[in-house]
Amino acid sequence: MFCWTNIVVQIILVVIFCNFVRSDSYYSDEYEEEYNDVQDDARLNTFSLIKKYGYPCEIHRVYTEDNYLLEMHRIPGNSSAPVVFLQHGLLSSSAEWVLMTPGRGLAYLLADAGYDVWMGNARGNTYSRSHATIKPTSSLYWKFSWHEIGYYDLPAMIDYVIAETGVPKIQYIGFSQGTTVFWVLMSMRPEYNDKIIAMQALAPVAYLGNVKSPLIRFLGTFTNSLELAFKLLGTNEILPNGKLNEIAGQSLCIEEAVTQAICTNLLFLICGFNAEQLNTTMLPVVMGHTPAGASTRQLIHFGQLYKKGTFEQFDYGWLRNKRIYGTYKPPSYKLSAIRTPVFLHYADNDWLSTPTDVMKLAKQIPSAVGIHRVPMAKFNHLDFVFAINATELIYNRLINIMRFFMNESK
Ligand SMILES: *[C@@H]1O[C@H](CO)[C@@H](O)[C@H](O)[C@H]1NC(C)=O
Ligand SMILES: *[C@@H]1O[C@H](CO)[C@@H](O)[C@H](O)[C@H]1NC(C)=O
Ligand SMILES: *[C@@H]1O[C@H](CO)[C@@H](O)[C@H](O)[C@H]1NC(C)=O
Repeated sequence: MFCWTNIVVQIILVVIFCNFVRSDSYYSDEYEEEYNDVQDDARLNTFSLIKKYGYPCEIHRVYTEDNYLLEMHRIPGNSSAPVVFLQHGLLSSSAEWVLMTPGRGLAYLLADAGYDVWMGNARGNTYSRSHATIKPTSSLYWKFSWHEIGYYDLPAMIDYVIAETGVPKIQYIGFSQGTTVFWVLMSMRPEYNDKIIAMQALAPVAYLGNVKSPLIRFLGTFTNSLELAFKLLGTNEILPNGKLNEIAGQSLCIEEAVTQAICTNLLFLICGFNAEQLNTTMLPVVMGHTPAGASTRQLIHFGQLYKKGTFEQFDYGWLRNKRIYGTYKPPSYKLSAIRTPVFLHYADNDWLSTPTDVMKLAKQIPSAVGIHRVPMAKFNHLDFVFAINATELIYNRLINIMRFFMNESK
């Protein structure tokens, strides 16, 4: 629990600053162009961002079996292009793959390499906030964890992509929670192994026993009382993309602003810190798009994994567990059911996906065929998507690995 007061203080500080700090006073003309670009990118949605940078983009929507409506973004390739599906991390969205602009964002690099690029959005985030009958203002809407994202959202999106493109199998890239939901799907519905050519796991998350992130450790310590507190406060959603992001993007995180340190801290409290690989000019853009919303249950489920050191379904308490699962304890995910070739990409200084936990995961996945360490000691969790040198340190290797499977996608 070492850091929770710190987090609360940070949040309060940010809110106070949001009310007092106004922009416009601290940038000079020579930065104006870059400033405008950054301001622009902070508020554009994924579709408009991609269009702005001269790439084609399509929006696709699909219903899940349990009637959530999801939005996908696609940078289409030519008719014979191999297909890749990208799934974002916790509190994030498809924007994650394009925020860093062409030449740096993974979605653009894949498009440049000839792929038909599809980006998913999990239920509850900025782009996937609809349901056939339930409104997001209702607490019923938020009764899901990443278990449901893996069990319902992923298969709906994968099936849609396969139907739309006519290919038998697709490549998969997940970051953080985007890997967790993949493990869930492949262990709960093993037939989906046959629809994936290969899986690239960036900062894979399943076991969390060794997490260094203060926020997750905090949640782990207080999971039970926290769920109760959220219930009493009526909080079903954490950190939606709303007012706070907008203000942060507009006035709070502009370079050289006094407040930038605070932005940096709030973001990095969750995911760790690597000043070397952070392009501070891009902070307003990152802050304008993340956090993008998630259910409180998603965080609590991660907290449970940290506390127990296992990879298992949501713990409702033994009575409800018995009713829902037929056992007093939640069942573990059967990682042994995974048959798709899996490549794990991890980093030494990752606060969430620690080397110890990644090795533990690798041993459980029968088809884990590659384990790659990012060759930089300070590389941290968010660096997998936002690092200045992500291309040189990870993406080039990843695209090389994917090239081996090129023939399977026809
Ligand atoms: C489609 O893209 C692939 C990969 O970039 C390329 O090798 C191929 O020549 C292209 N085909 C057509 C018909 O443009
Ligand atoms: C940081 O981002 C800005 C704005 O996109 C860009 O002009 C600059 O080259 C980036 N810096 C590095 C070191 O990549
Ligand atoms: C990192 O990126 C910068 C700016 O794009 C470049 O000058 C530098 O050579 C890169 N470093 C590595 C290790 O690739």
